[in-house]
Amino acid sequence: MSQTIAANKHKIAANFSGIMNLINCYKRNDDVNITFWTPPAGGDKDSKTSCEGDKNKPASESDAANAAGAASKVAAAASPPRSTKSPATPSGKAAATGASNKATATAASGKAPATTAAAQGAKTATKSEGQQPASGKGPDKDKSGKGATPPSSAQQTKKGPRIKTFQIYRWKPGEKPKMQTYNIDLNDCGVMVLDALIKIKNEKDQTLTFRRSCREGICGSCSMNIGGVNTLACLCKIDGNLAAPLRLYPLPHMYVIRDLVPDMSQFYEQYRTIQPWLQRKNESKEPKGCAQYLQHPQDRLDLDGLVECILCACCQTSCPSYWWNSDRYLGPAVLMQAYRWVIDSRDDATDNRLNQLIDPYKLYRCHTILNCTNTCPKNLNPGKAIIKLKQLLAGYKKKTEPKLETAKLFK
Ligand code: SF4
Ligand code: SF4
Ligand code: FES
Repeated sequence: MSQTIAANKHKIAANFSGIMNLINCYKRNDDVNITFWTPPAGGDKDSKTSCEGDKNKPASESDAANAAGAASKVAAAASPPRSTKSPATPSGKAAATGASNKATATAASGKAPATTAAAQGAKTATKSEGQQPASGKGPDKDKSGKGATPPSSAQQTKKGPRIKTFQIYRWKPGEKPKMQTYNIDLNDCGVMVLDALIKIKNEKDQTLTFRRSCREGICGSCSMNIGGVNTLACLCKIDGNLAAPLRLYPLPHMYVIRDLVPDMSQFYEQYRTIQPWLQRKNESKEPKGCAQYLQHPQDRLDLDGLVECILCACCQTSCPSYWWNSDRYLGPAVLMQAYRWVIDSRDDATDNRLNQLIDPYKLYRCHTILNCTNTCPKNLNPGKAIIKLKQLLAGYKKKTEPKLETAKLFK
């Protein structure tokens, strides 16, 4: 009985958060004119923002974020993170071939811990648990209100340690998963979560395994679940609230290779199925390297917001539909790239690409919950791209004719 109640609580929280995500996303969507009820100003005082990385959300989103904060609290109370449950079931899955250059881990098994849909969806609110810049660079205001006299360097050196606790998911083949605790002095660490991970690996525990490469939100390697939100560790500031531990998990609902490293094989395989390359009708008559395919600047503008995707899979693994049907539903990141190639003015395989998506699962498992859009650390909108794909498939919209003759230079 108690399990049923807990499950229902979870569903209610998830649904509420889903609605708020929908509102949030439609607000971003220029094509849709909808008027929304907004909660009174200053609604949830506890809501702050965190993990925003390079995001600067417009003020108009703050109301929805506040309301979503309430949902996330209900969710937190109703359902503890699944990661505390039992771990990885051996699956015999092969190591990620596409990802092997990014990780130094042995292939293994085990699905990553799941986060609640509410936790994913209510990102803008839950991240709020005090993510402030670390290492004394942040805008720490004088609480006495006596003005902002910057502390002298002598005062700064007298400042005591600012110990932050990190609880990190650890698992390797043959062992049970566990949460391992590390304490880091924020005065002696960079401001981002990736800085803390590198510090832990360098100074405390060399066995800690995670992916990273560019450390500036370009490569997509360091995606993980930080404080209940899928994001990039290199763009996520460390929560400055020393009282609350920061919990790090691998991307949810993925098989784990080791510690924070998920197996991305299936994701890359699904990406391969949409044939993410330019396809031309008369390819043989257009020898490579002889001339350039022309594209009008206005046609190029259509690709903005699509080509910036770094395939980090944060959106993919925050999508409840993908959690349940990850073998058949392509997921938001892959579908957004499918749309990117469908509308490319230089591409001739439009019909073939659309026909490939006529399937009950590949595209139509998207129920416009919009967790994907809400979680994307690059502020992209996969949910909107999926809607446009559906419009093209249903015949509501047509691909526009290229404004330049693409192969003119070949003639
Ligand atoms: S759409 Fe955003 S979250 Fe999804 S893979 Fe691309 S960059 Fe990552
Ligand atoms: S892909 Fe569709 S179902 Fe999945 S989170 Fe995005 S909008 Fe929701
Ligand atoms: S290290 Fe490249 S995106 Fe984070």
